[in-house]
Amino acid sequence: PFQFDAERDAEFEYLVKRYPSRESMILPALWLTQEQEGWVPGEAIAYIADRIGTFASQVYEAATFYTMYNLHPVGRNHICICRTLSCWLRGKQEIVDYLANEIGIRPGEISEDGQFSLEEVECLGHCGTAPVVQINGEFHENMDVEKLKQLLSGLR
Ligand code: FES
Repeated sequence: PFQFDAERDAEFEYLVKRYPSRESMILPALWLTQEQEGWVPGEAIAYIADRIGTFASQVYEAATFYTMYNLHPVGRNHICICRTLSCWLRGKQEIVDYLANEIGIRPGEISEDGQFSLEEVECLGHCGTAPVVQINGEFHENMDVEKLKQLLSGLR
């Protein structure tokens, strides 16, 4: 069964003392889980609820509301592409098509070699420099196919 490793367990105990209520630990605990596993497995939701002393449904609600939590396994390099208006107007589909044709991944998929996964997400908050891609948590703005090609070759 899922549990925090020693490092995350210590981090959880440290943070829980700093938050005004145990329930405010839901997001940090989800984050610790994702750091540890690369994603948030269902059994981690129950574990977090138990550690915090709340309902699993409440943890699940938070985990499903924010697209930054991966609710299924991801590749070693996880690519999030914004699909909201500015990015859509400024060519996000070209990038999505490139990834489908060159790497063989569509949104929600992992490449066969496990190197890359792709997710379409809602506005990443950098609309002025659309289209925006986030790779392993790092933002890349004014993205185009050429730039992405270079970034990905550096990650292989
Ligand atoms: Fe893509 Fe806001 S619309 S970052």
